Amino acid sequence: HVTRRADYTPPDWQVPDIALNFDLDPAATRITATLHVQRSGVHDRPLRLDGAGQTLLSVSVDGTPVNDWVIEGGALILPLSGSAHVIETTVEIAPERNTQLMGLYASGGNLCTQCEAEGFRRITFFPDRPDVLSRYQVRMSADKQRYPVLLANGDPIASGDLDDGRHWAEWHDPFPKPCYLFALVAGDLAVNRGSFITMSGREVALGIWVRATDLERTHHALDALKTAMAWDERVYGREYDLDVFNIVAVDDFNFGAMENKGLNVFNSRYILADPDTATDYDYDAIAAVVAHEYFHNWSGNRVTCRDWFQLSLKEGFTVYRDQCFSADQGSAAVKRIEDVRGLRAAQFPEDAGPLAHPIRPDAYQEISNFYTATIYNKGAEIIRMLATILGATAFRTGTDLYFDRFDGTAATCEDFVASLEEASGTDLTQFRRWYGQAGTPRVTASLLHHEGSGRAELVLAQRTPPTPGQDSKTPVVLPLRVKLFGAQTAGTVAPEHVILLSDAEQRIVFEGVTERPILSINRGFSAPAIIETDRSAADLAFLGAHDDDPFARYEALQQLMLDTLVAAAGGNQADHAAVIAAVAGTIGDAKLDRAFAAEAVLLPSESFIGDQMAVVDPEAIFRVREALRRDIGRALTSEWCAAYDAAQAIGGYVYSPEAKGLRRMRAVALGYIAASGAADSGDLAFAQFEAADNMTDRLSALTTLVAGDAAQRTPALDIFYNRYSDNALVLDKWFSVQAMAPRDDTGDVVRELLRHQDFTLSNPNRARALIGAFGVNQRAFNVTDGSGYRFLADQLIALDTLNPQTAAKLIPPLGRWGRFDAARGALMRAELERIVKVPGLSKDMFEQASRSLEG
Ligand code: ARG
Ligand code: ZN
Repeated sequence: HVTRRADYTPPDWQVPDIALNFDLDPAATRITATLHVQRSGVHDRPLRLDGAGQTLLSVSVDGTPVNDWVIEGGALILPLSGSAHVIETTVEIAPERNTQLMGLYASGGNLCTQCEAEGFRRITFFPDRPDVLSRYQVRMSADKQRYPVLLANGDPIASGDLDDGRHWAEWHDPFPKPCYLFALVAGDLAVNRGSFITMSGREVALGIWVRATDLERTHHALDALKTAMAWDERVYGREYDLDVFNIVAVDDFNFGAMENKGLNVFNSRYILADPDTATDYDYDAIAAVVAHEYFHNWSGNRVTCRDWFQLSLKEGFTVYRDQCFSADQGSAAVKRIEDVRGLRAAQFPEDAGPLAHPIRPDAYQEISNFYTATIYNKGAEIIRMLATILGATAFRTGTDLYFDRFDGTAATCEDFVASLEEASGTDLTQFRRWYGQAGTPRVTASLLHHEGSGRAELVLAQRTPPTPGQDSKTPVVLPLRVKLFGAQTAGTVAPEHVILLSDAEQRIVFEGVTERPILSINRGFSAPAIIETDRSAADLAFLGAHDDDPFARYEALQQLMLDTLVAAAGGNQADHAAVIAAVAGTIGDAKLDRAFAAEAVLLPSESFIGDQMAVVDPEAIFRVREALRRDIGRALTSEWCAAYDAAQAIGGYVYSPEAKGLRRMRAVALGYIAASGAADSGDLAFAQFEAADNMTDRLSALTTLVAGDAAQRTPALDIFYNRYSDNALVLDKWFSVQAMAPRDDTGDVVRELLRHQDFTLSNPNRARALIGAFGVNQRAFNVTDGSGYRFLADQLIALDTLNPQTAAKLIPPLGRWGRFDAARGALMRAELERIVKVPGLSKDMFEQASRSLEG
């Protein structure tokens, strides 16, 4: 069954008020729902309440039991005569048997909910669509010893004890919301409390709820929450609106976190951190996700989505907001590099493969499959382009108008764009194409200099390749930040400005160009496009040393490396000298902050190199990349050792941008020292592994050791395992580091790890740590005998019976069949064919696998 955007119709019935009564029990929870329903418009259609999997015990209308209802595809259809009624249903569900982790489920002995996108229907009968907004009153009762804490959306109203060892609590949320934002949590939880005074002087009680033993790992998340609340006031004028804001961390969660009104529920990996167990990357991700979910209170909750095709309205905008927040907390340049690296690793391949879809899709079978890098990350790039085109002031005027006009409603992407258009007076007609057109635009740029004339001409052309279902594309609006440097003086020949490329071809003339100009383009990655230029290795090296836009400087170095690697993987003689010189210049440039320098000298990933090739050759890519790493390591041995020593932390562990930069440089230097093959590099890594006072240094050492000799690899893995065997989040790292290892035997190791006592498919983090990580290990996954493909398919088929949503997310590596040689492609397709034929396959998996075959 396919749902289409064009088929949208407003709801037949509204439900302005709902009261829910939960009699909680892991084996049998009873829910009585009282819905105040109102007929919307003039029609005689029955009330249709979505449902899935619950046992229906009773239905009444206006206080009278009725039985003239039917169940159709899980939904309860009830004929009603008047325009307003009170409907009461009682149902029973079994949270402990809910392995899909959608609806009400058990995790670590506690009970929690996840309703976005369509999980609420697994709890009770209700119009499960985001344009039905209701005020919620929630009452919960539960065993007091087992579930001493009872939380729901909004404010706590009352609580008390019952006589049978149970207790109850009641919560009211005054803000009308769609049911996907409903949440409750019942459990044995400890709380880290804080408080925040909003810009209008209201005090908000903050709480982060975790199991008691994790309490000391919640301080970073609480700090991040307060920083995010202040940031949204300062940057967007958005103030928090309830007296309470709670976050609960759970171990079993299908994705990162959820923005339920006043009660965010998080995957514990995005809350828990201390120096011994979390890396700098984890700390950054925690702050980003805490901020993201908090920002949803306005971009998502106060203004929600009319239908799920509008998902990027809240997700793209909120990712853009969290990216800007993170950029403000430390190195903005490094943050931008990380964002673009993420986009290229996940979204560009999606746009180039069988699952390509626009940020506002036209059709879906299962909406969970559309929580994608395109909706989220490309969506964020679209918002970023709007901010660039309008400028900061007009963009803010536009978002103010949007929040003001659509507060309390379910809006569309068009509402957002129209608000920005109206507030800024900028015509965004053509810009709207970004919402409907899939695929990554390719821009060619060549700069012609007419010596003696003082004139240079930039010739730009854009083309978006076809994607499934969209054979022909039209030009989009690309804001390209451009600057010209003089090759002799290294000075500015043309200052930075934004070129709006909106035609298929455009020529831009620069006057007064008296020396040969060098093009710096798409600075800051101002448009999410692939830029092809004819810049020489020498010009790229020049920009890598002189460009004053840090992103462009990074990009020039990456392009230089990429050109070298792609040529070598294609069988051409590789000259590593230019790359080595550029790397030496970068690490030796004392003016560069270490975090940036460390990022800038990392080689492009194997899969990104593959994305540049007509036919991906995983073995050749691995070989040429290792050869370049070895040469950079060898040629600059003393530089790496000096960089390693200089990055030695002074005093104990601190989490600060500077200290993070030093640790990053140590990790990169250690990697190059090991790549050089230096005899003592294993000892150096092992010494770091043992002496480390933090997870960042320990894990970077372990990553290096895992690539090396068994004499050090085996003890290091054992020590790490024994030290952290009671910490699930750290064990995930132990599984991942082995699944991502650049080794010949990685496939065997991963198959062996499947039988490890700590491996389970039923915890999504653990499944992703092993199976997900292996799927993106390009060389190991794509071994020629197809054993990697068979392994992934076997595991996804098994996982699908427990948790279809998490299984379906792991399909994309098999969808790359068109990118490889015919033999590999056929093996991948065979696995996809096998998956679609599995009896009882979920619609999540069926949609992903069948679309992957069509591509
Ligand atoms: N809204 C949540 C977030 O981005 C994610 C919900 C994901 N839902 C899903 N069905 N995959 O913050
Ligand atoms: Zn989100």
